[in-house]
Amino acid sequence: MAQLWGGRFTKETDRLVYNFNASIGFDQKFYAQDIEGSIAHVRMLGKQGILTTEEMEQIVACLEQIKQDVDSGKLEITDEYEDIHSFVEANLIERLGDTGKKLHTGRSRNDQVALDMRLYTRLQVLETDELLKELLTTILKIMKENTDTIMPGFTHLQKAQPITLAHHMGAYFEMFKRDRSRLYDIFVRMNYCPLGSGALAGTTYPLDREYTAELLGFFGPTLNSMDGVSDRDYLIEFLSALSTIMMHLSRFSEEIIIWNSNEYQFVEIDDAYSTGSSIMPQKKNPDIAELVRGKTGRVYGALMSLLTTMKGIPLAYNKDMQEDKELSFDAFDTAKGCIALFNGMLATMRFNKDVMRKSANNGFTNATDAADYLVNHGIPFRDAHGIIGQIVLYCIEKNMAIDDMSLEELQKFSPAFEQDIFEAISMETCVDKRLTIGAPSPQAMEQVIAIQEEYLAKNWWEEEEET
Ligand code: ARG
Repeated sequence: MAQLWGGRFTKETDRLVYNFNASIGFDQKFYAQDIEGSIAHVRMLGKQGILTTEEMEQIVACLEQIKQDVDSGKLEITDEYEDIHSFVEANLIERLGDTGKKLHTGRSRNDQVALDMRLYTRLQVLETDELLKELLTTILKIMKENTDTIMPGFTHLQKAQPITLAHHMGAYFEMFKRDRSRLYDIFVRMNYCPLGSGALAGTTYPLDREYTAELLGFFGPTLNSMDGVSDRDYLIEFLSALSTIMMHLSRFSEEIIIWNSNEYQFVEIDDAYSTGSSIMPQKKNPDIAELVRGKTGRVYGALMSLLTTMKGIPLAYNKDMQEDKELSFDAFDTAKGCIALFNGMLATMRFNKDVMRKSANNGFTNATDAADYLVNHGIPFRDAHGIIGQIVLYCIEKNMAIDDMSLEELQKFSPAFEQDIFEAISMETCVDKRLTIGAPSPQAMEQVIAIQEEYLAKNWWEEEEET
């Protein structure tokens, strides 16, 4: 049991208490950030004359060496230490002796852990963004290839109106694009450095907080030391953004599961992304999509957990806040893994275009357009709606589509029908006539695709700066 704070204690910590209290099992995940933060702190102490240049250089070199040794596996992080901060400091002292003992001058584990978690989370925000960008690239490719792939659009999971596959994919493009812009917002709000907040009240040493903030790539230091050590808003925001990403992935997964079903057969998931059954030889299951849908609950759980943890904490640091880590780490890894796997599944999925097309043909998806045709021939919309409703009923009884009826049959329902009705309600016409921006016609979609292409060509900070 290696601890940093034995001085005022007369008894050894009970083993169970030690284990209950320790965080080394999980905070070792940010050893690189802990060392990076310590290096910045020590450079600043050197610049301010709080440490001599020689001491500063020795400590920095030794911290770099410790990092290399952990990276290479030469130095193992063991649970003999209470947390990652103790592990690094103990190793430094072991290697440097008394000089190593000066590392923690003007710092507390409270601002240290606040910094580590922020650095680690910031990296996760950027990595998540990169993965979303890759997913958007896949979606855009499918959009470009399918501006004239007709499929039914649904409401209430009932066939509603014809759309295109490009249009359907474009809806998800919008969702993940918004998700990226949420990540950007979070980055901008969180990118301030808590180092120098001390335990809660800053320190009496003449620290240069601007300098450490700059060394660590922050916009500047946080402006209140009590908030600096106890703010986890950025983490809650990120977990919320991840929850939204998972919600979007889960909706998309649900659709793919439906599309991949024997009944729909709109898509076929590649063998590499499907699994079989141990008993039923014919099965090819969409497990990846189901797992993504299922793992959404875990990420929501992390968000609810942290919101609940934070709600009763008086200022400033309290040990409850150690609970910000495990579920967050799990949520980061889960969400990133899901985006990457989903992307792979989507990129390799085959679309059965003829099945989609037939499904659009057979579902009265052109009924609205047939009603609009009558309106254009002078019939009030409510009456037109009624006439087409009767026609649909007639077709259901005869097991046919509106397009299969003869002109004579149609004219029995309304004399307004003329030969051009067939052209007016063809799937192509239904789609092509929907020309407003955001609608499915190939023409409108081309405009949107050009916008999205331009968006993907830029980095998100450039994109956001313009708006
Ligand atoms: N393991 C702790 C955490 O994750 C580090 C900060 C400890 N600070 C303290 N005052 N005990 O929050």
